[in-house]
Amino acid sequence: MVKQTIVECFAEQSHPDMLEEFDRASLEELVARHETPFMVLDLSEVDYQYKLLQAALPGVKLFYAVKALSHPALIKRLKSLGCRFDLATSGEVELAESLGVKGEQCIHTHPIKKVKEIQRALEFGCNRFVIDNMEELKKFIPYAGQVELIIRVSFRSKQAVVDLSRKFGCALEELPMLVEFAYQNKIEVVGLSFHVGSQSLSPMTQADAIRASIAAMKVMSSIRWKLLDIGGSFPVSYQETVLPIADFCAPVMEALSELPEGVEVFAEPGRFIAAPAMIEVVSIVGKARRGAKNWYYLDDGVYGGFSGQMFDHASYPLAPLKPFDPSGEFLSSVLAGPTCDSIDIVSEDIELPDMQVGDILIAKKMGAYTIASATEFNLYPKPKVVVVEDIFDTEAEAL
Ligand SMILES: Cc1ncc(COP(=O)(O)O)c(C=O)c1O
Repeated sequence: MVKQTIVECFAEQSHPDMLEEFDRASLEELVARHETPFMVLDLSEVDYQYKLLQAALPGVKLFYAVKALSHPALIKRLKSLGCRFDLATSGEVELAESLGVKGEQCIHTHPIKKVKEIQRALEFGCNRFVIDNMEELKKFIPYAGQVELIIRVSFRSKQAVVDLSRKFGCALEELPMLVEFAYQNKIEVVGLSFHVGSQSLSPMTQADAIRASIAAMKVMSSIRWKLLDIGGSFPVSYQETVLPIADFCAPVMEALSELPEGVEVFAEPGRFIAAPAMIEVVSIVGKARRGAKNWYYLDDGVYGGFSGQMFDHASYPLAPLKPFDPSGEFLSSVLAGPTCDSIDIVSEDIELPDMQVGDILIAKKMGAYTIASATEFNLYPKPKVVVVEDIFDTEAEAL
């Protein structure tokens, strides 16, 4: 599964580097106060990532994709920064509502919904919905005059780690038929959207999708297009190093400059904002020598906080908390999760100094699609989240 060396972990140059941002003394203090496994959500990182993306996408309205990490403290912080929200379920609608988010600051982006979910979103005051097929469009006939629809188009992407256009989105050729049906039924269509895939490694798929969407808008010139929603996809460095966000967004902005005047641009970032804002702290609870390797058993694994290794294809950078000699001896090791299932392996082949039961490991970039998809298999509880305003601030609040 995950092969990495500890030296590579520490050599990673993405900003902010955990070992600069999170000094060992602060982490040790947290470890002294909270039982592992736990996540640390640093709200100053949320600020940093949000502002970084907004600077790279000037003029684009950012709708945070709540599915990535729905912790209330994160939502509240983003709300205070002026961020809007991408909601996909009634659960997410209820969360946003409970935190004082306004419906008009949200879009409902799930292309397939129960009628009940449409009604719940409307009750909340959210009237912009994504659809991608005729059956879904028909569900909006009773709500004509109340809703504004965005049609999601599929642009397949081989280079994205998670190709979301496989499951959702219509072909460009289907657009005229959907638009015509909406027109006949007095349902307002206001925009196009797409998601070229999560953890996209090249911006060119997004830039091409923007140009194809603009061309489609120009062909369907009878529609008063209000918006183009360019989805999520903005990548972060896990084991692999990705383009700095300003470089990633440059070709995207160039393509957007060709948009007709008066068309607003929306984006739905999830990973880029959430991933770097959270780390996970785990303990070694058991150790065994099996064959040529040291096996370390952790108190969390792929059924818990590391679930993104299964569902999100992510490999999180890991490092021991205890200082070690980088020129010392490293042993080929396996990091296993705590459950009884043999699939529960966090790292199949990682080089580590000799570790002991009780030692702590830190996993970075654990904010997006981690705790969101964690289970309680074997009745191991999900790791709790400790919220810090800044990792150097000792006033941590456990939620
Ligand atoms: C509709 C939609 N919007 C936004 C996102 C967030 O994408 P990302 O995490 O790549 O920014 C997703 C992710 O699954 C999605 O399905």
